[in-house]
Amino acid sequence: MPGIQFEDRVAIVTGAGNGLGRSHARLLASLGAKVVINDLGGTTTGDGQDQTVAQEVVGEIEAAGGVAVANGDSVIEGEKIVECALDHFGRLDIVVNNAGILRDRSLHNMSDDDWDLVYDVHLKGAFKVSRAAFAHMREQGYGRFVMTTSAAGLYGNFGQANYSACKLALHGLSQTISVEGKKKGIQSNTIAPIAASRMMSTVMDNEAMKKLDPGAVSPLVAWLCHEDCQAAGELFEVGAGWISQVRWERSKGSYFPPSGFTPDDVYEAWNQIRDFEQATHPTSTKETIEAINLNPQNEA
Ligand code: NAI
Repeated sequence: MPGIQFEDRVAIVTGAGNGLGRSHARLLASLGAKVVINDLGGTTTGDGQDQTVAQEVVGEIEAAGGVAVANGDSVIEGEKIVECALDHFGRLDIVVNNAGILRDRSLHNMSDDDWDLVYDVHLKGAFKVSRAAFAHMREQGYGRFVMTTSAAGLYGNFGQANYSACKLALHGLSQTISVEGKKKGIQSNTIAPIAASRMMSTVMDNEAMKKLDPGAVSPLVAWLCHEDCQAAGELFEVGAGWISQVRWERSKGSYFPPSGFTPDDVYEAWNQIRDFEQATHPTSTKETIEAINLNPQNEA
């Protein structure tokens, strides 16, 4: 297979002014993609804005011989970012939803503002960009999305109820985009990265940060954005030169008469319900219905 290239492809990378987004954008541009460098330019907590942040990355890409355009809109106005891609480059093939902020507080101290702002940037922002991009990609019969979740979303993390809820929801969005986009050549996958960035510097010390170059995440992102990659609705953990797939695992479970069973019956079967010895790895809602239909105690 020839080397991965993105000639004639147009990409949007949100939050591309810093950290991971900047690294993804620079790699895609170095491989031939024309890239919209979107970044609002605010702080890690989502305050303020600065149009020069995106412009600086465009300067870096152009200096290296690549093609990029700066966009300073918030992802909450996702349709404007998609318009920017279409106005400048006439098409759109790739969206990397990466923009993010943190408003960490334990649940009992979390304000409505902490919740709303994190929700707006991570989940609503990704929805707004993706909806606008999807409409265009359907017409052209091709598209690739990458969503950015987090270990906090997959496993939970103290002080991050807002962030973890939105981050896991992004994987739900990604899976449904892949289902709805299947017949239109549109695929979406999710990464849970770990990398040194200004965001991570709020929760990690300098020694640990040295091992976590954002550049060790971007090769996976580029591959997921490529037309030869057939993964759809999948989830990967990635960082420090390690890439691993994560999937759902379901125990064989235990069947009860649907018409009536008691909490005591659940108690009796508790170990079997949670026994993963004969686990399966479902990938669709159809497989869930099949398991329900298999209940030997179904009367219908
Ligand atoms: P970062 O703070 O370096 O970069 C995030 C960028 O998003 C910033 O340039 C910021 O200006 C931009 N941004 C924020 N709100 C925006 C908005 N409304 N519209 C457009 N741009 C906006 O952070 P980092 O670490 O590079 O994070 C990138 C993504 O990766 C985030 O979604 C984050 O949650 C996720 N992530 C990062 C991890 C890490 O280890 N660095 C771990 C897990 C997830």
